[in-house]
Amino acid sequence: MNTNRQWLLAKRPDGMVSRDNFEYTETPIPEAKSGEVLVRNLYLSFDPTQRGWMVDRESYLPPVAIGAPMRAGSIGQVVTSEHADFEAGDLVQTTGGWQDFVIAAPEQGPMGLTKLPVGVTPEMMLSVLGITGLTAYFGLLDLGNPKPGETVLVSGAAGATGSVAGQIAKIKGCRVVGIAGGPEKCQWLKQEVGFDEVIDYKNENVDVRIAETCPNKFDIFFDNVGGDILEAALNHMNMKARIVMCGGISGYNATEPVPGPANLMNLITLRARMEGFIVLDYMPRAGEAIVELLGWISEGQLKYQIDLQEGFDQIPDTLQRLFTGQNLGKQLLKIAEPF
Ligand SMILES: NC(=O)c1ccc[n+]([C@@H]2O[C@H](COP(=O)([O-])OP(=O)(O)OC[C@H]3O[C@@H](n4cnc5c(N)ncnc54)[C@H](OP(=O)(O)O)[C@@H]3O)[C@@H](O)[C@H]2O)c1
Repeated sequence: MNTNRQWLLAKRPDGMVSRDNFEYTETPIPEAKSGEVLVRNLYLSFDPTQRGWMVDRESYLPPVAIGAPMRAGSIGQVVTSEHADFEAGDLVQTTGGWQDFVIAAPEQGPMGLTKLPVGVTPEMMLSVLGITGLTAYFGLLDLGNPKPGETVLVSGAAGATGSVAGQIAKIKGCRVVGIAGGPEKCQWLKQEVGFDEVIDYKNENVDVRIAETCPNKFDIFFDNVGGDILEAALNHMNMKARIVMCGGISGYNATEPVPGPANLMNLITLRARMEGFIVLDYMPRAGEAIVELLGWISEGQLKYQIDLQEGFDQIPDTLQRLFTGQNLGKQLLKIAEPF
């Protein structure tokens, strides 16, 4: 291969993100300078937050510029190294973007450049031990502070983040109720993952079903969805409930500003707390989470699912899968084999 295939951001989205927002191009392979490495991307991570990066507004990271390769987390292999800590062949995690090759350095981009720990697969590093696993871990434990016997409600429950958050709550001795779309995902949560109850928001009345499945109301709501599901949940809080605002995917492709829940004042009467967070703030503590998550996986207490697509041409369509609920578990795409 002697060119760098890329998908560039061509047009900012209005409504559902689609292939039309991106443009395919080929450019020369870049060269690493002193302190840098040239990485060939092997696996790309797909994350709902990428939809936010496409919009020109203030956020926790600057927007992707029009004409730039779309930003994405990745696992790749070092091709050439001008950095003393890396050598050709190393498997590394970085923010490789939608392209074959990227110039990376340890202090560069939101994920820097780190070697994969020995024995950890790229799939694990981009899911349960990566951004989604760490989000579940720190969001639930730091913000939710679960105690044995409490009831934990999770939305987006069959997804990469939600399924791990729910399982950590089970490990901590909580009763866990998940909200997910469709019978297949609900069945997986109840029969394979071990959630106590599930609510199929596509086929059931969420407000009614939360009342049925949480007879003692809930103490923690780990919310990935926002919108109507958040509003329904706010009707079923216990005193001193904690709402962990992880994401609001139901509004990410909205064309109008998303209204807030009409019943927000329930937080006052119930002395409840609602708090947002960004997992990048927890990166200095990633090591402690990875050790504990790995322990739970090896003891069979924590399951994870990978939805692996293949092919460079599939990149734009793979992002859309997150917003149609087609993904079964962490959405990844493989674009090359290691050498
Ligand atoms: N705060 C942070 O630092 C942080 C970090 C990572 C992720 N997040 C957030 O965590 C959430 C989950 O991300 P993930 O990477 O783990 O993705 P994911 O849950 O694996 O995939 C996204 C899922 O969202 C659900 N969904 C899509 N549109 C929806 C809608 N309109 N209403 C309800 N559900 C909808 C779909 O599941 P169904 O089939 O069940 O609808 C889809 O499978 C997102 O909100 C993301 O922004 C936050």
